[in-house]
Amino acid sequence: MRVLGIETSCDETGVAVYDPVAGLLSHRLHTQVAMHQAYGGVVPELASRDHVRRLLPLVQAALEEAGAAPASIGAVAYTAGPGLIGALLVGASFARALAYAWSIPAIGVHHLEGHLLAPLLEPRPPAFPFLALLVSGGHTMLVDVAALGEYRVLGESLDDAAGEAFDKTAKLLGLPYPGGAALAALAERGRAGVYRFPRPMLDRPGLDFSFSGLKTAVRVALRGRVLDETARADVARAFEDAVVDTLTEKCRRALRATGRERLVVAGGVGANRRLRERLAGVAGEYGASAHFPRPQFCTDNGAMIALAGCLRLERGANRGPPAPARANWPLDEVGN
Ligand code: KG4
Ligand code: ZN
Repeated sequence: MRVLGIETSCDETGVAVYDPVAGLLSHRLHTQVAMHQAYGGVVPELASRDHVRRLLPLVQAALEEAGAAPASIGAVAYTAGPGLIGALLVGASFARALAYAWSIPAIGVHHLEGHLLAPLLEPRPPAFPFLALLVSGGHTMLVDVAALGEYRVLGESLDDAAGEAFDKTAKLLGLPYPGGAALAALAERGRAGVYRFPRPMLDRPGLDFSFSGLKTAVRVALRGRVLDETARADVARAFEDAVVDTLTEKCRRALRATGRERLVVAGGVGANRRLRERLAGVAGEYGASAHFPRPQFCTDNGAMIALAGCLRLERGANRGPPAPARANWPLDEVGN
């Protein structure tokens, strides 16, 4: 059964049609980045209102691109949480109304489950079980994925998420919000080793992360100085190297501890070129394969929600009432 997927947990409106046999038929995305840029961050009320405006045209476009008549859609999957509650409610209400009108099931999907499963949209999909590094603007976690819905969080950030650290450091360097990708582009021109920032939490055992100190170290290094373009690039490079080293070492520890043979990387920071290269190397050290979503499916999108909905539908997720929208929803409470 084909599934229409709807993502509205933050500032992207994503819609996609997934077919269990043919795979992804279409996907559409509207990003609100330009709208929030003036405020330096996402304004929740503006986000909700924009989702209202964008959803219907995006659904129409996605169905058209897929060549899928509404009657061929077997279920509507939507992000039920975690995320901004207003934005989630728009997507959930829209999806459930559509499902009601079409007399088909509505399936609430956990946003992070969507991210974890995004590499399954690629040509060489990983089989279960696998180890997943989830690095986004809101989360940094290492998750042991035994099977669909069987998630054990092995470690997570005690303060800022990796993407948040990228965004805040980018702001310090004068880059526009959200600065992760821009900082990475600047770092490409920087020289390694000119500046050096700490590798948080590597000096002690465990799989948790902490990135807020790193952002502060950058702030201290920049204090009272006017940097030219070369120096800004060197700082960006040093910051990126510190984050990438930290994430890589924690993945190495987690691969060693779990013995998993597949490493999945997901979430917006997973689009980072240097991180992908290093993680592929670490996986290789342990004889494991590394799996990444294509960069556009690292960040929020409807395709991962359609896919997760489809897998859940195959497991009989349409039997109970659809999940309510929830701002907070721990990943290990998802269940199967
Ligand atoms: O997964 P995502 O779209 O949103 C959340 O669910 O949080 O991730 C967005 C985050 C932002 O913090 C953004 O700056 C970061 O991913 N990001 C990157 C890159 N592209 C996006 N960070 C580092 N390098 C990149 N190339
Ligand atoms: Zn996300």
